[in-house]
Amino acid sequence: MTALARALSRATQGLSRTSDTPRLDAELLMAAALGISRDALLLHPPAVDVPVDFAVMIERRVAGEPVAYITGQRAFWTIDLEVGPGALIPRPDSETLIVAAVEHFAGTAGPRRILDLGTGPGTLLLAALDEWPSATGLGVDMSDEALTFARRNSARLGLDRRAEFRRGDWAGGIDQQFDLILCNPPYIAEGAELGPGVAEHEPAGALFAGTDGLDDYRRLAPQLAGLLRAGGLAAIEIGFDQAEAVTDLFAPTGLGPSLARDLGGRPRALLLRHGS
Ligand SMILES: C[S@@+](CC[C@H](N)C(=O)[O-])C[C@H]1O[C@@H](n2cnc3c(N)ncnc32)[C@H](O)[C@@H]1O
Repeated sequence: MTALARALSRATQGLSRTSDTPRLDAELLMAAALGISRDALLLHPPAVDVPVDFAVMIERRVAGEPVAYITGQRAFWTIDLEVGPGALIPRPDSETLIVAAVEHFAGTAGPRRILDLGTGPGTLLLAALDEWPSATGLGVDMSDEALTFARRNSARLGLDRRAEFRRGDWAGGIDQQFDLILCNPPYIAEGAELGPGVAEHEPAGALFAGTDGLDDYRRLAPQLAGLLRAGGLAAIEIGFDQAEAVTDLFAPTGLGPSLARDLGGRPRALLLRHGS
């Protein structure tokens, strides 16, 4: 057994007490410590000593810090995003919004103008701009820390000529119209139990939305209809058990709310379509 393989086994054992995915975590952290991808680690393990940083990374993970904050990276859709404290770590469930948009614009030239409300580290806007190379977009967030990550990601990905980021309170003060509106607002009820490490490490302003988790949908519902161009789509992420409540809140928009499901088959996005 090589030194790397031994270190991975030991780390996996240590992490199994605190993580649901100990082997994956150990591999991601080893790859980051070596400065290579996980694929490269698994397919072509380098014959080198265990990097000195690896033990520290494992200690941080055992203490509950998310892997993405330790590596500073998280993959989302077709892009890699830089993340850290102050910016929500992108979740695979949010790709449901991009899938819905790809389906909506299939067979067309795609959206020309895209708005991402609550952009965090630029997650949905930058994924959408990567998908549609002629589009331009605006990302809004109330958190300066999140916007710093968004602007850095946009530059790293070579998307900064097509992406503008602005501090704002949802759609307040926006007087343009968009073909695609993406929005993943906070939707967790205050006091709800979250997965290990989430409440301790990720920003509360990205997670919680009042006593029933619906406060931000109440604010967004009256704002969105006027921002959507004819033929456009708004895709808004929801908690898996919020479909009925959020559908009711957006019914007055007259944009025929429908639902998109995540890979687990749970309702994950509310879709509003502006007829032609
Ligand atoms: C659930 S996170 C989504 C981050 C990213 N869009 C994603 O999908 O991973 C919600 C984001 O909304 C931002 N936010 C919260 N309240 C806001 C408000 N009133 N106006 C604009 N952004 C807000 C938070 O700072 C956070 O970045």
